[in-house]
Amino acid sequence: MKLTLHIWRQKSPNHIGRMVQYEHANVNPHMSFLEMLDVLNEELIAKGEEPVAFDHDCREGICGSCGFMVNGVAHGPQPATTVCQLHMRHFKDGDVLYLEPWRARAFPVIKDLVVDRSAFDRIITAGGYVSASTGSAQDANNILIPKRDADLAMDAAACIGCGACVAACPNAASALFTGAKISHLSLLPQGQPERFKRALGMVAQVKQELFGSCTNIGECEAVCPKEIKLEVIARMNRDYLKASWTERPEITRGDD
Ligand code: SF4
Ligand code: FES
Repeated sequence: MKLTLHIWRQKSPNHIGRMVQYEHANVNPHMSFLEMLDVLNEELIAKGEEPVAFDHDCREGICGSCGFMVNGVAHGPQPATTVCQLHMRHFKDGDVLYLEPWRARAFPVIKDLVVDRSAFDRIITAGGYVSASTGSAQDANNILIPKRDADLAMDAAACIGCGACVAACPNAASALFTGAKISHLSLLPQGQPERFKRALGMVAQVKQELFGSCTNIGECEAVCPKEIKLEVIARMNRDYLKASWTERPEITRGDD
């Protein structure tokens, strides 16, 4: 297969980027999208040119490292598929593809298709964990959890933090990601003691990170490779609203 690729090239955060056209004649339909880029990069290196930078790690749809826009769609045209799991058999000989990094102020471009997603790490740090010891596997099995709640928590926990939801959202909102992280713990007994503190902390961090506001457009759900549902945003909003009315400020020992 032959493809014409238009790829965003940007040397560093402070350089002005531009689209560069490449004719790629060695595309095997069995390659993944990233393997196709690997071959392009080998050709560029052989010619003494700078290879295209892109993020990746597991290449199994698990880690959330990969991700860029393919013809304007986050992770490309295949639903529920990360770009590392997207195969070239879904494209045709002669196709013209435009590859661009996630576009969001909260995700500044580092180089070419690589963006800085550390804002997501800071949102997790603001409350996306259970701080108390929850025991070993045996202790977990002693806590009865309704099947429905366990299933919903697992669905939310499937979020891999790829950032496609932010890239697809016209407001560059991180509501689907944050809602998934809040939901996955708020649905389980182990997440209850810090439930409302978690919602307040994580939503406050979102506001600091220059993400936009959710206006229920739904593009995030449409592109999410893990099929996270908009209901996680509703759950986050409910927890945040309730926490705003009921939680009192942290009181440290000696203050009261
Ligand atoms: S909610 Fe979906 S699109 Fe957003 S970061 Fe998680 S897995 Fe990626
Ligand atoms: S490289 Fe890990 S999800 Fe794509």
